[in-house]
Amino acid sequence: MNKNYYITTPIYYPSAKPHMGHAYSSIIADFFARFKKIDGFNVYFLTGTDEHGLKIQRSAEKLNKDPKSFCDEISKTFEDLTKTLNLSNTDFIRTTEDRHKVSVQNLWNILEKNNQIFLSKYSGWYSVSDEAFYNEDEVEEKDGLKVAKSSGSAVEWVEEESFFFKLSEWEKPLLDFYEKNKNFILPESRRNEVISFVKSGLKDLSVSRKTFSWGVKVPSDENHVVYVWLDALTNYLSSLKYPDENNELYKSFWPADLHIIGKDILRFHAIYWPAFLLAAKIEPPKRVYGHGWILSGDEKMSKSKGNILDPLEIINIYGLDPLRYYLLKEVSFGNDGNISEEKLENCINSDLANNFGNLCQRVLSFAEKNCSSLIPDHKFTDDDLEILKPLNNLDKIRSFIDNQDINQYMSFIVDRLFSANKYFNDQEPWKKKDDRLRLNTIVYTALELIRKITILLYPVMPETSVKVLNVFNETENSIDFTSIDNNEILKKDLKINKLDILFKKIEK
Ligand code: MSP
Repeated sequence: MNKNYYITTPIYYPSAKPHMGHAYSSIIADFFARFKKIDGFNVYFLTGTDEHGLKIQRSAEKLNKDPKSFCDEISKTFEDLTKTLNLSNTDFIRTTEDRHKVSVQNLWNILEKNNQIFLSKYSGWYSVSDEAFYNEDEVEEKDGLKVAKSSGSAVEWVEEESFFFKLSEWEKPLLDFYEKNKNFILPESRRNEVISFVKSGLKDLSVSRKTFSWGVKVPSDENHVVYVWLDALTNYLSSLKYPDENNELYKSFWPADLHIIGKDILRFHAIYWPAFLLAAKIEPPKRVYGHGWILSGDEKMSKSKGNILDPLEIINIYGLDPLRYYLLKEVSFGNDGNISEEKLENCINSDLANNFGNLCQRVLSFAEKNCSSLIPDHKFTDDDLEILKPLNNLDKIRSFIDNQDINQYMSFIVDRLFSANKYFNDQEPWKKKDDRLRLNTIVYTALELIRKITILLYPVMPETSVKVLNVFNETENSIDFTSIDNNEILKKDLKINKLDILFKKIEK
């Protein structure tokens, strides 16, 4: 079985500081990366910044900066954010790096050699904000301004000489590819959207620009720069040292297992990207998951709308792990979701303080008082085995992850927490002081429940989970998902370490 796993976030435009939407894509990807890691996979997790194109050039010009130093500054805030979000990424790629430019030019040369590129003239609509070309029927007039219907961003008329990619030739092969790889695009609703778009006919795609210079030069004609999306998508290859196809990274990790992206950039990832790759005779990625948006009220949170919630501010007030938990549990994965301080506070109080925190504190302080802070002996009854049983089903839990069903994964955890608290209540160990073995067994079972559930929480809240697992002398590197299958990992007389309060209830 292939135990390598390659997962990516989109690479972010460093046109402004990161916001909650960016944090969301990254936290989702980190969640999957961490789960795979504790399930024994070699994980390659890539994130980075997308630094070329007119959008960045103009943002830099507005501040009278040259684009490279402008990017250096803002890209750094994205790199810092990977630390603040506690991402386990393997690499951080910037498209202005030489290693990346080499890859882009190589891919271009192959496309040219394979007769996939021709010179012509583009005339049509272009949105600098989306870095996207739009057909006439995708554009509408709003308040006297031409905007893209899908994103609402302003479009401008462009007429210039341009190289084109023969996208129209890939309509049928793409439809075949989607048919053969049913889960290439998830969730299913987005898959259907993509398929109907492709079926409606694909036009050749302009893949170079001539009227500005901030980009990777087209190798065969330096008056052109490569279209920023062809440039950006190639990051997924360049981090693996493509074009050196014989190097270990490329051999081990390509094709990517999962590109996590927002639904707004589905067309680029689910149509253009596999078409470029098929045309270059490179295997396409295995899956593209288009998540929903984090909304502010009813609108997408974005710089241009000025309705941004700063992840750093939220983390300063509430801490990182509660934010991660909130985004993973309260935003239904695949759909749009909302975040507000009030909702976050409710979630901290009900799920983290009352449910998870309470379970840990009660059981551990009971064990301290009644078992001298040592793992007690045990003799399971049917009640105990019954409560442990759902956590022995590794394949079911793995299938949540492999289907990107975060919602089921999270509700599985919440159910386990509720039932663990209920078990401890119902068993009333405080009334069993004259039946030592029974009291010990209840404590043992409750400790095993905490250990197992905390392992499942590790991809969600790494720092908090490591604190809890330290109670049992486990360290971050020793966390093993498969150990939740075993009900008797905790060894008698092992010291139970102290745990500080995990989450303080927020007074309202
Ligand atoms: N640079 C391109 C991606 C190139 S990938 C080869 C880009 N950058 S972006 O910075 O605009 O957006 C990056 C990601 O953040 C996208 O997946 C986008 O969907 C996500 N989000 C941006 N705003 C968002 C929300 N308000 N909510 C959730 N995610 C959104 O697109």
